[in-house]
Amino acid sequence: MHARTLAGWALALAAAGALGGPSGAEDADEPADEGLAPVQKDGKRIFRSCAGCHCATDPRISEDNDWLRMNRTTACVKAEDATLEARQALETYLKSDRVIRPLLVTEGTELKIKLPVGAVSIPEVSGSAYLRADGDAVARGAPTKLRLHWQAGAKGRTLPVPAGEYRVVSYALYGRAGKDNAERWMMTASNMNGCIDLTVEEGKTVPLDLRSHFVGDAFAEAKDGKAKLLYSQSDPHGNVATLSVNGDVRLPEYRVFDADGRPVHRGVFENT
Ligand code: HEC
Repeated sequence: MHARTLAGWALALAAAGALGGPSGAEDADEPADEGLAPVQKDGKRIFRSCAGCHCATDPRISEDNDWLRMNRTTACVKAEDATLEARQALETYLKSDRVIRPLLVTEGTELKIKLPVGAVSIPEVSGSAYLRADGDAVARGAPTKLRLHWQAGAKGRTLPVPAGEYRVVSYALYGRAGKDNAERWMMTASNMNGCIDLTVEEGKTVPLDLRSHFVGDAFAEAKDGKAKLLYSQSDPHGNVATLSVNGDVRLPEYRVFDADGRPVHRGVFENT
């Protein structure tokens, strides 16, 4: 590739769309209202369901504020709906009481249900995981959507989960860095087909083995005299990850060199 002839860079972070990211699929078993902002344009709802791939935000979880902040830029809100006004409406909605939230399970939660219960052992770093089950994969009357949330701590800690077969549809790992720990790092991953599968058996403990071994892929595409550089970070199971600091998505930098190895262009990938 001869970099100097490249005009009109079209750069993309391939997290969405290009590499099997959000594809606009609706979740058939969702109640009509869940995860949809009540914002209308030309009589149509302008947001598709988020709950198929992401956990509803919970006001009791402070890290969710940073995730909400990411909605100012996320490519999950499609171009025609991505006005500032529409994004703010979505954010307001996601914080509101209208959203149906999964059952929150944190350390100290006692499940007050007369159903078979098992446990998951949680990672040592702080994090959160959104578990979904098909109705017939849990006992009758058991919740099919759970949100686990935990703080960093010693190995071997567990959270109670009703017995059943779940998919971990999205998860986040949280970290702190910088002066006075003022930087809040967050790695999120989503996969509507399940980042991992989790089978919880009565009276047994299963590890919450989140696959957080992500690898960055960069490649170039040339078409009609234009070139496109694409980048994504995913794991071998098709899970895509996003890294953010204090709610701002961290996108990688790139540099382009000509055939003689001279730097001709540098920049930061855009989120598309
Ligand atoms: C078909 C699955 C799918 C749907 C539906 C979906 N997303 Fe995403 N979303 C993803 C994936 C995959 C990522 C990249 C991994 C991650 O950060 O979790 C992502 C990332 C994000 C991020 C992190 C920042 C970023 O852009 O990388 C935000 C915020 C977000 N989505 C919000 C939403 C909202 C709000 C909706 C509903 C309007 C929605 N998503 C619908 C799959 C989906």
